[in-house]
Amino acid sequence: EPGARIPVLVIGTGYGGSVAALRLAQAGVEVHMAEMGMAWDTPGPDGKIFANTTSPDYRSFWLRTRTKQPISNFLGYPLDKDVPRYTGILDAEEMGGITVYQGRGVGGGSLVNGGMAVTPQRENFGAVLPSVDADEMYDVYYPRANTELGVSTIDPAWFETAACYQYARVGRKHAQRSGFPFVFVPDVYDWDYMKQEAAGTVPKSALAGEILYGNNHGKKTLQQTYLARARATGKVTVSPLHRVVSVAPAASGGYTVGMEQLDTGGAVTATKTVTAGRVFFAAGSVGTCKLLVRLKANGALPGLNGEIGKGWGDNGNVMCGRANHMWDPTGALQSAIPTAGIDNWAAGGAFAEVAPLPTGIETYASFYLSITRNPHRAEFSWNPASGKVELNWQTSWKQPSITMAKSIFDRINAKEGTIYRTDLFGAYKIWGDHLTYHPLGGAVLNKATDNYGRLHGHSGLYVIDGALIPGNTSVNPFVTITALAERNIEKIIAADF
Ligand code: FDA
Repeated sequence: EPGARIPVLVIGTGYGGSVAALRLAQAGVEVHMAEMGMAWDTPGPDGKIFANTTSPDYRSFWLRTRTKQPISNFLGYPLDKDVPRYTGILDAEEMGGITVYQGRGVGGGSLVNGGMAVTPQRENFGAVLPSVDADEMYDVYYPRANTELGVSTIDPAWFETAACYQYARVGRKHAQRSGFPFVFVPDVYDWDYMKQEAAGTVPKSALAGEILYGNNHGKKTLQQTYLARARATGKVTVSPLHRVVSVAPAASGGYTVGMEQLDTGGAVTATKTVTAGRVFFAAGSVGTCKLLVRLKANGALPGLNGEIGKGWGDNGNVMCGRANHMWDPTGALQSAIPTAGIDNWAAGGAFAEVAPLPTGIETYASFYLSITRNPHRAEFSWNPASGKVELNWQTSWKQPSITMAKSIFDRINAKEGTIYRTDLFGAYKIWGDHLTYHPLGGAVLNKATDNYGRLHGHSGLYVIDGALIPGNTSVNPFVTITALAERNIEKIIAADF
């Protein structure tokens, strides 16, 4: 309700926000969540809530009139097409020469991601979050996050026989023939459901190319896990299509929070203010930084320190495809949920997901998303001339990621006598080096905040999302974002509430 006074406002409904909401509600605190994206609980005219990858439609992209698919071309043909402008599920936000993909809607990135739920190797943790006690994380908070998220690993016996993982078995064979450690990648997908998809007894989701624009079945998003349990407490309210635009200290204590209500065309239909005792920034790395950098620059939150906006990284994401020989088909049917990885982090700085190319036809292609130890960190800053927050990433900064990914794929190509695909990201372009799925940092733990996410300079303001993590997690990030949020909220509830 406009003008209302509420104890806690959480900005955003992704991993960090959902953990905060559940734990605060369980501690008896009433929580309101504002989410700029849609609720994603109502089927469209085709009877489905979400569109699939092979036929993006109005639901697929956040306020764009043309799709911006991560794989933009195939066999020389551009894949993008016009779509109606709509508050769709995947944002392809262009900043500083990098396209930052993010989920939009109740559930944040969990709506669009591959569900790959990877805990970093313990020996790498010190570089991921240097100020955090690793024992606590690996004894308590990583296990807690994995349990709550519903993480599990594919049945290895089924993996060996399932037609939909032919591509992953080819990926394993090529990795092992070149001497690289192969690992199964855990996921939040319901593997029993996938078995039934393969058997033809339930509606298909992973086996129908559903990924990127939502899964209609099988994937346990935050809507099924943290947010469901948060709502069941009766203490959590969620307002979809509400974008937070301002936060400033209120004369009466707490913070005045300004919001814009959006229609599905993106137009502002109402502006509202509420007063919140405490505010949790959980708008994702980019969303949180865009707010904090602007609010510091325009004087709304003058106490924020000079670390705001700094330490942003792309988790070293880079994509590539390889063209296999005719005797190594990867399968016309490919599960959209990846389950295999190649770990060359220690030796070459790259952890590569063996990813699907769910085109519905045999492509003889192997496709990979690599996470690399890219050292470059960018900064968000306010540009008064454009009236926008900008990111000073540079396109050339992807080169270290390419070099690290090549530590795996040059060797595999040499061993197999194969070549890179040059048709997936444009004409004669090998590397998908224009994007990230894993924005991290910009309000770094123990720098912009204290060691638990309390923002310096204004008491009662917290950061609890991927913005806390300084640019790289060595693997896919959401388990680490969730575990860190679990750690921080436990401390905050005990000490501040
Ligand atoms: P998250 O981005 O989840 O949530 C932020 C929410 O805040 C969003 O819902 C957003 O709409 C909302 N918001 C932003 N600004 C707002 C404002 N001003 N007002 C109100 N609401 C606002 N990771 C992984 O571990 N395994 C994987 O397999 C993948 N795969 C993958 C695929 C794709 C296509 C993408 C885009 C991403 C992934 N990821 C992933 C990354 C993972 O999804 C990501 O790291 C987390 O979702 C980040 O969690 P946060 O809590 O930081 O924010």
